[in-house]
Amino acid sequence: MNRRATNIVRRLLRLPLAVKLAGANALLLLVALGVFRGAYRGPVPWPALTIAGGALAVGIAVNIALVTIALGPLHDLHATALRVSQGDLEARVSSSLVADPEIERVSTTLNALLDRVMAERTRIRELAVQAIRSGDRERAALASELHDSTAQSIAGLSYQLIAAERMSTDPELTTRLVAVREAANRILEEVRTLSGTVYPRILDDLGLASALRGLARSIAVDIGPEIRVEVTDFAESTVKQLPAESAAVLYRVAQESITNALRHSKATCIVVRLDGSASGITLQVRDDGVGFDLDQTGQGAAGLGLFTARERVSLAHGRFEVVTRPGSGTTVTATIPATLATATSRRASP
Ligand SMILES: Nc1ncnc2c1ncn2[C@@H]1O[C@H](COP(=O)(O)OP(=O)(O)O)[C@@H](O)[C@H]1O
Ligand SMILES: [Mg+2]
Repeated sequence: MNRRATNIVRRLLRLPLAVKLAGANALLLLVALGVFRGAYRGPVPWPALTIAGGALAVGIAVNIALVTIALGPLHDLHATALRVSQGDLEARVSSSLVADPEIERVSTTLNALLDRVMAERTRIRELAVQAIRSGDRERAALASELHDSTAQSIAGLSYQLIAAERMSTDPELTTRLVAVREAANRILEEVRTLSGTVYPRILDDLGLASALRGLARSIAVDIGPEIRVEVTDFAESTVKQLPAESAAVLYRVAQESITNALRHSKATCIVVRLDGSASGITLQVRDDGVGFDLDQTGQGAAGLGLFTARERVSLAHGRFEVVTRPGSGTTVTATIPATLATATSRRASP
């Protein structure tokens, strides 16, 4: 068969099944008529031919209708597969009474497969939630230990050194005692900063807006980009009612996003913006740095930092979005409802 003929056959085979059926039946009809005309030389028996032709036409129509009905669920199957490939794992093929049993089996198997994927996804999410929560609990305990025990002990040491300085009559010893006290005070500062990083106590004491300003101050480096914190008047008043758990989520998102901008973006300016609306409190961290390709890091599971931020926000029933492109900066946005049904206390762990 030459190439042209092969192409024609290929094109014919690609036609919809109903068209192929109609075509094949029409061809058979023509062949039958030809054979009939060749073998039968008498007068044309019109009534018999009309009945036979009519029956054949009805047969073809019924055939096409049955095939179309039986294959109809394939469209549903295709539409479901498309929705799944676009990330909607809740899409399911609906059951059909008229579907061909083979197609129905494929649909049932696909649905079962999707159910399993969903169950696995839920399990992984629960594990992530547990990991985040237990990490938070441990951090809160560690921060508390650092702040209440270690820092207090160093402060006590510092007071004792002051007393020793006063008692000392030897100038050389006094100089040494002063140096040791100053070293102790520096360690005390570091321990307090570390405690604040591990668990932002300032959130409980002064609220989210002040905590964000404090975070920007503590995280900024002299030669690094400017970090600007903007809090709208509406947000300033609304965040006061924000449950501690939600405030902690936004604080952690800001912490991760600012750190990311400092580590990865080469930005000259980072803007942290807190805004409030009827739908909740929105935190936005925007940098004018190099940006990155979300598809390569994976929108859902970039590094652990963005992944954890996304999980924290979704735990608080919020929305998390990263908008970025190589060469055009990065904007991280997290919106959390102003009131949270699951938030139980103002002193909840972050
Ligand atoms: N603001 C940003 N600017 C440029 N690249 C970023 C920014 N934030 C994140 N990225 C890129 O996304 C990756 C994933 O970030 P993240 O999940 O926080 O993990 P990590 O910071 O531990 O690498 C980073 O390694 C970096 O390549
Ligand atoms: Mg990070």
